[in-house]
Parts: sequence; structure tokens; C-alpha cells
Amino acid sequence: MKKKPDILKALGGTALDYLKVNGKTLQERFNPFSEYGYLRNKHGLNFSANRVLTSYVSTHVDAEIAGHGKESYLNFSSQDYLGLAQNKEVMDAAREAISAYGVHTASSPILTGRNKLTEKLESTLAEKLGTEQCLLYPTGWGACFGAIAALVTKNDQVIIDSLSHNSLQTAVKYSVQCPQKFRHNDVDHLESLLKKCRLKNREGGIFVILESLYSMNSDMPDLPEILELTHIYEAILIIDIAHDFGAMGDRGLGILETVKDRKLENVILCGSFSKSFASNGGFVAGPDITRLQLVVFSPSYTFSNGISPVQCAVAQKCAEIIFSEDGDVRRKKLKENIDHAIREFTAEGFITTGRPSPIVPVLIGPEDLARLMSKEMTSKGILANMAEFPAVPKGKAIFRYQMMSTHRKEQITEAAKILAITRKDSGGLLKRLKA
Ligand SMILES: Cc1ncc(COP(=O)(O)O)c(C=O)c1O
Repeated sequence: MKKKPDILKALGGTALDYLKVNGKTLQERFNPFSEYGYLRNKHGLNFSANRVLTSYVSTHVDAEIAGHGKESYLNFSSQDYLGLAQNKEVMDAAREAISAYGVHTASSPILTGRNKLTEKLESTLAEKLGTEQCLLYPTGWGACFGAIAALVTKNDQVIIDSLSHNSLQTAVKYSVQCPQKFRHNDVDHLESLLKKCRLKNREGGIFVILESLYSMNSDMPDLPEILELTHIYEAILIIDIAHDFGAMGDRGLGILETVKDRKLENVILCGSFSKSFASNGGFVAGPDITRLQLVVFSPSYTFSNGISPVQCAVAQKCAEIIFSEDGDVRRKKLKENIDHAIREFTAEGFITTGRPSPIVPVLIGPEDLARLMSKEMTSKGILANMAEFPAVPKGKAIFRYQMMSTHRKEQITEAAKILAITRKDSGGLLKRLKA
């Protein structure tokens, strides 16, 4: 009998098949998943942590990629929306911070892990966001997790958008016993859950948790309506503004610009520097009254080393650029690139989902086709992240083109053309492999 090529095994299955582990030893427990990962990487089929950059992050990167030779790539896989990762002013700010503060905070912020850079960035962000205060965390994940871990207690009720980021979902899972999920961006469903929760507990805390821009769908919630609902049902709103803050809106305030008279007394904003602020780190911003609770009861703040001087200085310089005329120009350029990308992918016969944002999701569909295309695109010199189940529904794999203000229109057009050729070639190859 003819042996099936092992690439077929790598084209099937998902990481979730390996979630349940059995056995007493590490070898027994993790060998099946490890073998599956090995097979996918061997065939260059886009699996975890298989790209090693050998250059700056920019619209072009050099990289070593498992299953491929070392090459130069046109890059749509980095979240440097405003192209600040190798900006000269930003890099100079990092150097100055090293001269003044060294490279390490060497302590939790509740001990000696804060410095003048920390203070300055906190007040810059609070001022821009229109909140009374802001607290910095060493990662955005830690900020989002830490906000919920500190502010939500076991007696509270939580209603969370079903597609919320892992940092929010994980915190909710560990904070309350029976969290409620509302259908993604479905305000009516949210209202019906709010009504039930309030009837059940007239005096207790209710938290509504969501994101401002969802990175798999590129869609946004109706914030004015949700604020109205949380006001009616006396609920507290936590919004993760990681993706749009800095990159969207006329003033760089993203979704917050959709709210006219911003009353944020029962709102907590959390986010990350890893998208538009060219740095690691994150923040939780809100009323003064929440600050001590966060400082003392956020495990990812209290028990973690303070954000480093370099990260802080980089985010500070980026904030200064983002909220200046230069920032306006970059956002305008970014928006033009996004619109151009949507036009070009559509012209090549693809469906792009959601609304225009720095993440342009291009629908492919079957996972096996998307995996082959990912391999093929990489060998054609394009990097774009493929997302498959469970990050998106089964059979609805996508490529997420992450746009930068520094991309040139021709690069975007080239990427769309190469995707179209790749779909044709990979479709043919898939048929032959399965025959
Ligand atoms: C919506 C959202 N929240 C939080 C995070 C975590 O941010 P960071 O990369 O700074 O840890 C991310 C990053 O992937 C994100 O997409």
C-alpha cells in the first residue's frame, strides 16, 4: 500500500487536539504535540515561534524561518502600526534613558521599581485618555489581566464579550465562578444579560468587559450605546483599547473619539504599548479611587518587576509623536494604506472582513489551504500571519495583514497579487496531494 505523505498529517489536526495531556513523564505527556509541531515546522506550515528576525522590524525584514532559507521578506506580520519601531527620535530616547537610568528597574513598582520616566508616562497617558490616573505594567497582557484580577471580586458578576482577548478571558476565569459571555458585539444580548444580573443582585457589582478593536475580525463595539447600558444598569465597564489607541481616530484616541461627552467615572481603560507605541508594556487608566486597589491587588503589578526604563522612554517618545502633527500624518498615511489594501485584496477576488483598521483580515477558509498558502507566501517573500481555529471559527482561516503607515502602496499591491497567485498554486497542490 502506498504510504500517505506525512505533509497530509501536518495539513490536518489543530493545537486543540493536544490540549488534554496524559502520562507521568514529560516525554509521555508532551511527545504527541511536540511531534505534530515538528511535522508542521518541517513542512514550513506556519506553526508557533518558527520565525527568527535577523534585522530591525520594518516593512522589510530579514528572517530565518523553519522550513525556509534565510531571506528578506516584505513584512505584514508586525504590529508596528505607525512605523515607530526604528524611528530615530524614539531610538535616541531609548539611549538617553539607558544613560540616565540604566537598563533595569530591579524591583517591583510597589518597592523601588518606579522612576521619573514612569511618573511622566503615567501622567502623559492619563491626560490624553482623560482619566484621573494611569498605572504602568511591564506588559499589556499583565495590565489587562491585572485590572480584572484587582478590581473584580468573587461576589461580582462579569459579562464579557465572547471574543475578548486571552488576557481578559483568563483573568475572568480566575476571578469569578460563573462569568456570562455575550455574543460578540451584540448589544441586545448584553442588555438581556445585564437585566438578569441586576435582577439577581440589586446591590452587587457587575462588570462588563470588552475590547475596542477585535484583532481577528477587525470590528468594534458600539461604545456610546454600551456606555448608556452600563449607566442604566449601574455596571462598571472595562475596555481593552490595545489595538486602536494611537493608531485610529482623528486624534489617535481610537474608539474613545466616538463618545462625545466622555464621563468615565465607572470606566477602566487598559491597553498595551506593543501595537502603536513601539514598546513592551501596558497601562490601566481610570479614576483615582481605583489606584491603590490596583497597586496592592494586581498580581501582575504588585509581584512583577516594574516596566524597564527603555520600554518607558520609548513609549513616552512614541506618545509625544502620536499626539503631535507627525502622529496625524502617520495616522492619515496608515488609513490610506488600509483603504488601499482593502481595495486591492477585493480586486483580486478576496473577502476582507470587519471595518477598516490596521488589521486587514483576508478570508481564506479551509485550514489546509491556508497552511499551504502560508508556506507558499513565505517562499515568495511575504510575511503575513495566518490565523486558524481556535483563534477563528473552524473552516474560516484568515490571513491578517497588519498595516503600517510606512508601507508603500506598491508593496500592498504586490502582496495582494502574490496572495492571489498563491491561492491558485496552493489550491492545485492541495488537490494533487489529496488525490
Ligand atoms: C487586545 C489585546 N490586549 C492585550 C494584549 C497584550 O499586550 P502585550 O503584547 O503588550 O502583552 C494584546 C496583544 O496581543 C492584545 O491584542
